[in-house]
Amino acid sequence: MNKTANKKFVGHPRGLFTLFFTEFWERFSYYGMRAILLFYMYYEISDGGLGLDIATATSIMAIYGSLIYMSGILGGWIADRILGPSKTIFYGGTLIMLGHTVLAIPVYGLTTLFVSLALIVTGTGLLKPTVSAVVGDLYSKEDYLRDSGFNIFYTGINLGALSAPLIVGTLGQQYNFHLGFSVAAVGMLIGLVTYVLTKRKFMGSIGDTAPNPLTPKEKKRSYRILGISITAILIIGGIVITTGSLTIGGFTILVSTLAIIIPIIYFTVMYRSPKTNKKEKSNLIAYIPLFIAAVVFFGILEQGSIILAQFADQRTNLQFSGFNLQSSWFQSLGALFIVIFAPIFAWMWLKLRNNQPSTMRKFSIGLFLAGFSFLVMMLPGLIGGTEMLASPLWLVFSFLLVSLGELFISPIGLSATTKLAPAAFASQTMSLWFLANAAGQGINAQIVRLFRPETEVIYFGTIGVISLIFGVIILLIAPMIQRKMND
Ligand code: PHE
Repeated sequence: MNKTANKKFVGHPRGLFTLFFTEFWERFSYYGMRAILLFYMYYEISDGGLGLDIATATSIMAIYGSLIYMSGILGGWIADRILGPSKTIFYGGTLIMLGHTVLAIPVYGLTTLFVSLALIVTGTGLLKPTVSAVVGDLYSKEDYLRDSGFNIFYTGINLGALSAPLIVGTLGQQYNFHLGFSVAAVGMLIGLVTYVLTKRKFMGSIGDTAPNPLTPKEKKRSYRILGISITAILIIGGIVITTGSLTIGGFTILVSTLAIIIPIIYFTVMYRSPKTNKKEKSNLIAYIPLFIAAVVFFGILEQGSIILAQFADQRTNLQFSGFNLQSSWFQSLGALFIVIFAPIFAWMWLKLRNNQPSTMRKFSIGLFLAGFSFLVMMLPGLIGGTEMLASPLWLVFSFLLVSLGELFISPIGLSATTKLAPAAFASQTMSLWFLANAAGQGINAQIVRLFRPETEVIYFGTIGVISLIFGVIILLIAPMIQRKMND
């Protein structure tokens, strides 16, 4: 082996190894925890849970998920303007690990839960958009390996998401939830250690400095805004807590509202910025329908760990050909299908070259698949009634459909975001894309509570049909939007 070959990780810059494993373990901890979190919240106290009612538990799942991706705006900004990516990733990972550790301690109660979630939300906001952006920094803009690098990275995400429910889920459900949470904490610790040990060697100085540091004047202004915001939050928080008006329901409404308002503000700021030129404004308008489609898609995708998890736990026959299944294991299915099909899709797009469907068409197909993933879930209730336990194969089929949809939307949407976002906002494209997911989950927080055995069929049916309608709209406006993107 010659010297250059030594310097590679599967033919890529060795830094990809560091980022791949850091993100693998971060996702392992996130999805492992999420695979048992819902059950932990609504299981009876005698079964080791918190005994919350299901509607509250599902709403918390959704606001937690929404905040996880909303916090990326702050995290991305801190990496870009203050700390630089390297430190941001490290601090983020540390907070995530602490968050899981808090839940690992067998102290029951909502306060512990919320402290843990707040730490993980802050940590993920720092780590996730930053680590993804640094993948891009490993390559030049023209490097033909760039796309393939992102594909490998996305596989890392999904390998983490695939293995975690099997390990954390099994320990959490068969032994003790807190044991499960502690394995999530250990996962993040392994990720942090890998990061610290290999970063310098494999990535050199990449990520050491803030790419776009604050000028002294901006610094003053930012710190002032930060100070005012923190004071405002403390005062308002203090008032609502002491008067007892801070309820989970109220907080849920707040998060849902923010999840919708923040992207609107973001688009307005980008559109009106003097740094955005005419061509970029046209691109931005073209991007809006894609963004809305992504909101609908991610809303459905993310219900996999809420509604489909609840279905797995309460409505599914877990005795399957002599096996005793755990309801958390179903959370591995989506990632499993992504890992299987991602290479096939990559190959297909390469093969089709100029004959591949346009970005808009791909989004439309993604929405159709997501819609059908919910429509099939009407069938067990329609055929067998909602009293009888359903075959686990329904869930397998549903996850297959939505995962195929993800492959039509997730990689394509990210790439469209980087192309259509104005150059002055380039460092924030990752966070912008995450906001689509945050908005989808913000909307979820309001609707997941409607799911009950009595509403099951109509719930899946309505959301499924809404997704199909959006798919049709995207298809109809595709020629117009595609023209806006191209010229
Ligand atoms: N599985 C993806 C991930 O964990 C889901 C996702 C897509 C999240 C897009 C945010 C934005 O990264």
